[in-house]
Amino acid sequence: MSEPVVLGIESTCDETAAAVVQGRTLVSNVVASSMDEHARYGGVIPEIASRAHAEALVPVVSKALADADMTLSDIDAIAVSAGPGLAGCLAVGVSGAKALAWAAHKPIYGINHVIGHIAVTQLQFGNFPPDVLALIVSGGHTSLLHVADVARHVDVVGTTLDDAAGECFDKVARLIGFPYPGGPHIDKHAQSGDPKAIKVPQGLTQGRSGREHPYDFSFSGVKTAVARWIEQQQDAGREIPVDDVCASLADSVATVLANKAIRGCEQYGSGTLIVGGGFSANSQLRAKLLEVGTEHGIDVRIPQLKLCTDNGAMVAMLGVNLVEAGVAPSAPDFPIDSSMP
Ligand code: KG4
Ligand code: ZN
Repeated sequence: MSEPVVLGIESTCDETAAAVVQGRTLVSNVVASSMDEHARYGGVIPEIASRAHAEALVPVVSKALADADMTLSDIDAIAVSAGPGLAGCLAVGVSGAKALAWAAHKPIYGINHVIGHIAVTQLQFGNFPPDVLALIVSGGHTSLLHVADVARHVDVVGTTLDDAAGECFDKVARLIGFPYPGGPHIDKHAQSGDPKAIKVPQGLTQGRSGREHPYDFSFSGVKTAVARWIEQQQDAGREIPVDDVCASLADSVATVLANKAIRGCEQYGSGTLIVGGGFSANSQLRAKLLEVGTEHGIDVRIPQLKLCTDNGAMVAMLGVNLVEAGVAPSAPDFPIDSSMP
């Protein structure tokens, strides 16, 4: 079979994105973001994001096709994120993708966005070995996944019991006074701070009590501990050592994520760890994963930044995997699923 050409469309949160992937080659990649419109509210406002998708979808898809020097007739299939995400946002991307598929008589695949974050690493590192583990970390998800076959079979090994890692960073950032999204500001300040300056607990290093499950995460206690410490300093009239707070928080979160992911690889016999999601842009996490990975002989595959954050390439890449695996396309009226597991 010649290499499948897939148009991928993404609209789960605040990025409207489209890309064309042919086999393992990224042919075009266009991303528009409504982040600036949300910043003054301190978080993504679903209604604003949905409207922004409605405005951006046609121009973004048109540009992705134009950049690829293609028309819809050159495409073998369309893939679109059907969940998890904000319902109104998903509805815009999925409706648009269905309309294009119907008009151009192309098969359509409604895909799982989180699995797209895993699939996209193939564009940089090539196919992954069988039975690999993946750590997907963003503002909305923190999951350790076992990938038996990216097109057909992915299992959850561990997940966050409360806040996602990015969410924890964003909440602490707000207390410090950084604009939304605060994660990248914490990253930057952490680079000049002392990671051992403040004692930050490591969220759930072993398992939750009662039901032992060593690969789950919990970051809400970490956030509360840092918040309490900041409050105490303020009450005592002391200045907040911002860089040290950021470095200590980043060290705690990166250490627990890296240790659990690498320990998981050892238990599951996976010599490779796939990493993805917006939070994998974090320098402290990247450094810690590479350090612990090298120590334990695990090949850690963290893609370049533009493939970590939400994009259409991840959707198109997973679409290519589905076409190659001979998976049947979705029904023309497939639903969105904002809490897709
Ligand atoms: O995957 P993503 O773009 O959107 C979601 O699906 O959530 O991830 C966005 C999250 C935000 O919480 C943001 O603060 C965090 O990733 N983030 C970072 C960094 N870059 C993005 N957190 C820490 N350090 C960074 N460099
Ligand atoms: Zn994402």
